[in-house]
Amino acid sequence: MAPAMDPCSFASFSKCTTKHLNLVFHVDFERRVIKGKVSLTLEVLEDKLSCLTLDTKDLTITKVIANGQVASFSMGTKHSFNGTPLEIQLPLEVFRGQHVIVEVTYETSPRASSLQWLNPEQTAGKKQPYLFSQCQATHCRSMIPCQDGPSVKHTYYAQVSVPKELVAVMGALRDGQETDPQDNSRTIYRFRQTVPIPSYLIALVVGSVESREIGPRSRVWSEKELVDQAAYEFAETETMLKTAENLIGPYVWGQYDILLLPPSFPYAGMENPCLTYATPTLLAGDRSLAGVIAHEISHSWTGNLVTIKNWEHFWLNEGHTVYLERMIARCLESEQFRQFKAIGGWKEMQEAVNMFGEKNPITNLVPCLDEVDTDQAFSCIPYEKGFAFLYHLEELLGGPEVFMGFIKSYIQLFAYSSISTDEWKDHLYTYFKDKVEILNKVDWNGWMHTPGMPPVKNRYDTTLADVCIALCQRWVQANEADLASFSEADVKNLSSPQLIEFLALLLHEKPIPLSHVKRMQEVYNLNGIKNAEIRFRWLRVCLRAKWDEAVPLAFKMATEQGRLKFTRPLFRELHGFEKFRQETVGVFVKHRACMHPVAVALVSKDLNVDQPQSKAA
Ligand code: BES
Ligand code: ZN
Repeated sequence: MAPAMDPCSFASFSKCTTKHLNLVFHVDFERRVIKGKVSLTLEVLEDKLSCLTLDTKDLTITKVIANGQVASFSMGTKHSFNGTPLEIQLPLEVFRGQHVIVEVTYETSPRASSLQWLNPEQTAGKKQPYLFSQCQATHCRSMIPCQDGPSVKHTYYAQVSVPKELVAVMGALRDGQETDPQDNSRTIYRFRQTVPIPSYLIALVVGSVESREIGPRSRVWSEKELVDQAAYEFAETETMLKTAENLIGPYVWGQYDILLLPPSFPYAGMENPCLTYATPTLLAGDRSLAGVIAHEISHSWTGNLVTIKNWEHFWLNEGHTVYLERMIARCLESEQFRQFKAIGGWKEMQEAVNMFGEKNPITNLVPCLDEVDTDQAFSCIPYEKGFAFLYHLEELLGGPEVFMGFIKSYIQLFAYSSISTDEWKDHLYTYFKDKVEILNKVDWNGWMHTPGMPPVKNRYDTTLADVCIALCQRWVQANEADLASFSEADVKNLSSPQLIEFLALLLHEKPIPLSHVKRMQEVYNLNGIKNAEIRFRWLRVCLRAKWDEAVPLAFKMATEQGRLKFTRPLFRELHGFEKFRQETVGVFVKHRACMHPVAVALVSKDLNVDQPQSKAA
């Protein structure tokens, strides 16, 4: 197979490919840097290899050695978001099929985009600092010089030296620990990842964390203040793993642990192998975490086993994962619940299309990412257009059981490799060779390469959504005299997902009057609800009604947790509230030193605030 072109990387994928990384990290909390040494085992793909390029971003490289000999190297031109190519001249000749070991000694920047360094005050325990990495999509290069594209898959071994009060955890199997022989105030933790993975799945956390067993192959990790609650709320994990295995096939990663991060973690979940990351905002006591865990578990097959050639095919990861997540919901809840989730997803897609504009090429299922920052391009489109596409095919080709047969065979065929949308489509035609006439009628170009909403509108069962629609309409149509007719009983029998849907529907309508929102608070007490998905939508309903009293609550939510899905729209909504625009900018500027680097970059853009320039080294 020809090596992939990757618009998001400078690495030379056609010259050589990484088979293994040996990582040695020294984590320095005082200076907020990782001192690192990485040995890349590279397989040569060209007749004769004399130079190669690795990705870096804000790294200081001090030494390069190839097969034991010092190699000369130079840094290329810095790109605004893709980093700086590291060009290495090999001091020896190596030939096709040979392996070469390139050892790079380096240091990360305190502003590395993959790393967030937290003060003790930003943790639950308030005593120890905390560090976590988030490499997806293109940030691994700010932690490790590497071929930072998903077409390359390699194993790794890591040794991480940290102050002995702290614990290191990685997305890998634990392989023991010992006192650092160079410094007895430190501990070295060792890890091995024996299944080949793309660089974006490398994950490191250092903090005062502990763990509890929650299943035969699962532990939950967090600061001790949260670990018992977490163990309780994640108790269903093994049931979900078994459900997924019954649907898709064996789980090959050995361990499946969950790590609960501090609230500034910018996502709900991240599918790091052996160690799913989760936001603590999932702890609400109402199973609101089930969907996220089902999603991250599903990535163990779609994304982590079958990976993508480059980020333009991101929908293969997320669309299939949402499809599987909803299949798990179908098994554990009901088909009606799957349909209900699909309705919500369609509406989210509509919202994203409205926001980006229906002609915006970034709303293509398979977008072009030349000179595009993947963080800026991120949205629910690959998730929900991807799901809608797969659901459309499911209906055309014979229903959920038949289509799961295809998904299973897709995973078997492409496990351990990295593929493009065309390879997926070719396999679809091979698997359904008896249904080619049906496949030929699919509007491939409309679905995959056209911006805006899909060319076909899916029809979903509205049984569980009907109460949400009815309640939303009652509020939208109510006049002042009708307000008395609302009562707590309206929402008493609604599940959390239905309450979310009700608020999502309200947000789809013209803003309701302030009197209505005040009455809604009076009868439903939504201010008292912890569930972050509910709270987020409720606060937006309030802000759109220009309710001043919601402003401090919205500032609180925007700053006390850092999920991009919440923090960005809340800041944007507050910024749009004319009276509070200055204050919004002020709150952001004051708070940004405590925010995740990716969140700072995105919110700065959203609010049109210049980022402080880092002092020259
Ligand atoms: N892999 C993603 C998170 C991600 C994507 C991080 C791209 C960085 C770049 C993860 O699996 C995910 O999709 N998380 C969702 C939750 C899910 C239930 C849809 C999230 O965090 O919102
Ligand atoms: Zn995902």
